[in-house]
Amino acid sequence: MVILSEWLAAQLDKESAEPAYRQLLQLMQQAILTGRLAPGTKLPSSRLLAADLGVARNTVLHVYDQLSAEGYVISTTGSGTYVADTRPDSAAVSTPTNKPSPARSPDDENDATGSSPRGDMSTRGQRLIEEAGVSAKQWGAFMPGVPDVAEFPARTWSRLQARLWKSANHGLLTYAPGGGYRPLRRALSDYLRVARSVRCTPDQIIITTGIHQSIDLSVRLLADVGDRAWVEEPCYWGARSVLQSSGLKLAPVPVDEEGLNPREQDLREPPRIALVTPSHQYPLGMVMSLARRRTLLEYARQHKVWIIEDDYDSEFRYGSRPLASLQGLDESDRVIYVGSLGKLLFPGLRIGYMVVPERLAATFRTGVAELYREGQLMQQAVLAEFIMDGYLTSHVRRMRTLYGERRQLLIDAVTRHFGDALPVMGDEAGLHFVLGLPDTADDRAIASAAYDAGVIVRPLAAYYSVRQERKGLLTGYACVPHEQIEPAFATLARVIEEHAFAKPQKLRRTG
Ligand SMILES: Cc1ncc(COP(=O)(O)O)c(C=O)c1O
Repeated sequence: MVILSEWLAAQLDKESAEPAYRQLLQLMQQAILTGRLAPGTKLPSSRLLAADLGVARNTVLHVYDQLSAEGYVISTTGSGTYVADTRPDSAAVSTPTNKPSPARSPDDENDATGSSPRGDMSTRGQRLIEEAGVSAKQWGAFMPGVPDVAEFPARTWSRLQARLWKSANHGLLTYAPGGGYRPLRRALSDYLRVARSVRCTPDQIIITTGIHQSIDLSVRLLADVGDRAWVEEPCYWGARSVLQSSGLKLAPVPVDEEGLNPREQDLREPPRIALVTPSHQYPLGMVMSLARRRTLLEYARQHKVWIIEDDYDSEFRYGSRPLASLQGLDESDRVIYVGSLGKLLFPGLRIGYMVVPERLAATFRTGVAELYREGQLMQQAVLAEFIMDGYLTSHVRRMRTLYGERRQLLIDAVTRHFGDALPVMGDEAGLHFVLGLPDTADDRAIASAAYDAGVIVRPLAAYYSVRQERKGLLTGYACVPHEQIEPAFATLARVIEEHAFAKPQKLRRTG
């Protein structure tokens, strides 16, 4: 016992901000877990230990009570306090086999030491992390896909929110079963019918945290591990990650100027899921033609394919009117339509929606509650009021004008620096366009050098799964104030000049 109290006295730091009670508790727990105090050892009386350590007896009593409550010691009235035997049961712990899981590569055995996270991870988890596209920086010139959050009518939002909090009740503060806040689902179905020609009732709308979650839910409810999923080549890396990590086998399908263009070999093996961006192909920007839409719908009907229509930013079209959704043409209930408020309002809102065929609505309502235990009804209620009072429509209208001006300023900057040597692709809609680069350019290296110079662009390479057909940079303009566009582009142009063109073959300005 003398040894224990001597050891404790040496460890206790009376000057520390950590109270003696917490220090003593942690030291004794550590002594028991490491075997310094063996099972069955009798602890000194609280009076004795308190005297040896120069602390109040109550402190020791509290420590003993806590050790007893957590199962470290057993106190028996009259006979004292003993260290409990909590050593792991060796029979239960010993592994029946040392064979590695067949799904893992032999390299992983070396990592099982814990020195690298690879050994800890599943094959699909490892793939997800290795191919991840998410960037730490989400704001600034020329971050693609991000709206100008500084323009969001925050005062209106906060007024609506304050009013709702005054009447907050259990209906707004509990979980949100049943697919989300009913008035929001009603407001969204009205909005989608008018703005996107989506055919739906409020019952068919399921509120989610965004397109990522809507895709995840669809895949979990409609596909099995190992099923095929068509993705556009190139496509949004985030959607690819969600599908892949759910265990689907991805089959990249080429796109041309009319959108998804499946080859014979693709058609021969119908997928379970086809994920498409028909209104504004991501990232190249083309619109799927009516003929291709009808072919895809018919193919889906015949082969029982689920089409996930990702309609992420169609409201922002700068010349023509926004196009109708694919879902609006679907007579066979094969389309799951997914959208998000992230680009219309602000990305951090994390509210999205899906429109599912009527016969699947109850299934999806149960699925979303079962998997994600959804909540945020208060935010959903604010959004419902925001839409019903007309603020969504007026904000989108105002942003369309603002982003249209920024888009033009950026196109002007491209022309000023490069003439028509670098093509601008997919600029009719959305929040970004693709700045084409020569075939010999390394767009990843250019994006990385631009990042170091303080400008964010995404290399087209990151969106291809198999073979990169074109070189280019995704260049966003929506969140860049007018006056910053030219100076930021001048920086980007310098990086492109340095990296994209071999020294003797200096860039030819033709415009
Ligand atoms: C094509 C596409 N779909 C979906 C998303 C993400 O949607 P959400 O933020 O609602 O998950 C993005 C984000 O950039 C996107 O580009």
